[in-house]
Amino acid sequence: MILSLDTSCYTTSCALVEAGGGVVLDLRLPLEVPPGERGLRQAEAVFAHLLRLPDLVEQAMEEVRRGGWRVSAVAASNRPRPPGDSYLPVFRVSERFGRSLAAALGVPFVAVSHQEGHLAAAWHGGLPDTLLGLHVSGGTTELVRLRGRPPWEIVSLGASLDLHAGQFLDRVGVALGLPFPAGPHLDRLAREEPAGAQELSEGSAGGCPAAGQSPPAVAIPVTVRGCSPSFAGPETAARRLIARGVPPARVARAALLCVARALEKMVLAALRAGEPGTVLVVGGVAASSLVRERLRWRLEHPAVGVRLHFPPPHLCTDNAVGVGRWAWGALGGAPG
Ligand code: KG4
Repeated sequence: MILSLDTSCYTTSCALVEAGGGVVLDLRLPLEVPPGERGLRQAEAVFAHLLRLPDLVEQAMEEVRRGGWRVSAVAASNRPRPPGDSYLPVFRVSERFGRSLAAALGVPFVAVSHQEGHLAAAWHGGLPDTLLGLHVSGGTTELVRLRGRPPWEIVSLGASLDLHAGQFLDRVGVALGLPFPAGPHLDRLAREEPAGAQELSEGSAGGCPAAGQSPPAVAIPVTVRGCSPSFAGPETAARRLIARGVPPARVARAALLCVARALEKMVLAALRAGEPGTVLVVGGVAASSLVRERLRWRLEHPAVGVRLHFPPPHLCTDNAVGVGRWAWGALGGAPG
């Protein structure tokens, strides 16, 4: 059994993952963000993780005792992304707790980046040896090439030039009065709005209104250079729509479709550059039903021919399951 930890913005996570990648326990506690706020300062988040993590580790170790298992390694996130200089204070909590626990238990410690954890949470045996990983969350919007199996060799192909997709959605949602993180609320709200005329002409799968009943087209344009999107312009455009009194559900739908269009353009740019046509889509924003639906409709169209793989929504959002799965691979027992 691998005991795995992840202390991200904004979830404290602890999991027990068995050899083969099976999940025995998946514990998570979201950090509380005060109403109207768009996040926490790093010092506040670090302190909140310090208070929460021991409760989760106690529950996990109780489960280990009850099941008569043995912890054979401890794995923890230690940085946002694979490059050595990638750094965010929150991950110091999982790393330091993890190292201490491994030393106390006398077992190996495996450091994993948060991104590697997100990708490995989505891994399954049916994936080809070379594929793309699209990581879309509050802290990352990046397209990478993956080679092998966890622990994959990861090469970045492009990343957000400013705001991340989830950050953009959270800002729009909070401006609409929704709680943080706003993505899931925005996704539900967007479902109240039927597809606009422009979407229908683009072939969106989202709820087809009867002829003559399409709401006025509200689209938020987005720029993507190569595989690198920019969400600063879309944030300004969304704020303008809100100021103009556009109904919240219509703004929500436009914001999510803007993200989906950006992701679509990133993948298409990679395909044009000769990259592989299988894409693993991970991170909290990949939990959006509207984004999934739109990406499937546009990219899996026979004329495009991309094969999309989404993990179940609960493995899109922050978790420690992927950290454990990556660690099994790194220790020589690849998951699956
Ligand atoms: O991967 P994640 O849980 O944490 C980070 O590592 O950032 O992603 C969090 C982001 C937030 O911006 C949140 O609003 C968004 O993912 N999110 C969603 C949904 N669930 C989480 N966005 C749209 N639809 C969802 N269902």
